[in-house]
Amino acid sequence: SRSINLAVIPGDGIGQEVVAEGLKVLSAVLPGDVKLETEEYDFGAKRYHATGETLTEADLEQLRRHDAILLGALGDPSVPSGVLERGFLLKLRFAFDHHVNLRPSKLLPGVSTPLAGQPEIDFIVVREGTEGPYTGNGGTIRQGTEHEIATEVSVNTAYGVERVVRDAFARAQARPRKKLTLVHKNNVLTFAGHLWSNTFNKVAAEFPEVTTDYLHVDAATIFLVTQPERFDVIVTDNLFGDIITDLAAAISGGIGVAASGNINPSRAFPSMFEPVHGSAPDIAGQGKADPTATVLSVALLLRHLGYDAEADRIDAAVAADLTERAGKPARSTSEIGDALAARVAG
Ligand code: IPM
Ligand code: MN
Repeated sequence: SRSINLAVIPGDGIGQEVVAEGLKVLSAVLPGDVKLETEEYDFGAKRYHATGETLTEADLEQLRRHDAILLGALGDPSVPSGVLERGFLLKLRFAFDHHVNLRPSKLLPGVSTPLAGQPEIDFIVVREGTEGPYTGNGGTIRQGTEHEIATEVSVNTAYGVERVVRDAFARAQARPRKKLTLVHKNNVLTFAGHLWSNTFNKVAAEFPEVTTDYLHVDAATIFLVTQPERFDVIVTDNLFGDIITDLAAAISGGIGVAASGNINPSRAFPSMFEPVHGSAPDIAGQGKADPTATVLSVALLLRHLGYDAEADRIDAAVAADLTERAGKPARSTSEIGDALAARVAG
């Protein structure tokens, strides 16, 4: 019989509240013959203050036994900036080789956008997750003097670029519009830009049905605001992807509904799914957080594990809930979770 062995990391702040609702919806959507086992981990600010640890080798050993990881949010004002980011989030991405950072943007009915009108927004960004300027390559000399020179080297390997580009082509191929846009800056970043463009053109030959396009990242930010409908699938490097996916979230309903997956498509390691939003300590513990982004992340998780029908049911439940909530009084975190769980079950 089928089973899902899930690592659950509620984390800090509203992470606890939204993950509880994500699990509620997950339990409700799974058919009776699928056994759901969960194990909770206490990573985050509390653990860091108690032990000084963010993510140890022993933790990684534990985590890798699971089929997937669901994360709420990590971060607290009491922890110095960068500690949990580098010590947990990035460490996990590198350790589990999460090279596909998947971030869908879909403007659902009833959701407001800062853009004029109600544009068609339905695209996914495939952000490279393990290379680029995120590898910690670089250094500084004469630090603290007026002659300081700091470098931050972007690492782009043929292997790393090709596997993420190939993944993006496959995702484009599977979508109705079958269009893939490479976003880079190959007029200035000529070495990495050359590798990305060459790889993109080489892999394109294997996907003749996919329409291809190229945009410099600065131009892409304009089109995301003026013509978001031109995008179907975007593939881009780690840092460009970080920046444009925040913009993408902002135009398509904001971080209340933005979901993401840190994916290792080979399943050699568990992939991790999380809402794009942070721990929001200002509203933590008040039942004010919208669990929708976490619930949509659960749908991405299910799709990754091959439960497409269940993922579709969650997406449909969220769309219906968002349509219905327009103009009604705000509901609490658990009320939204209950409503979504009821929809996916029935
Ligand atoms: C994200 C975040 C991270 C990133 C930070 C917290 C390290 O901004 O997931 O987009 O830059 O990737
Ligand atoms: Mn980011």
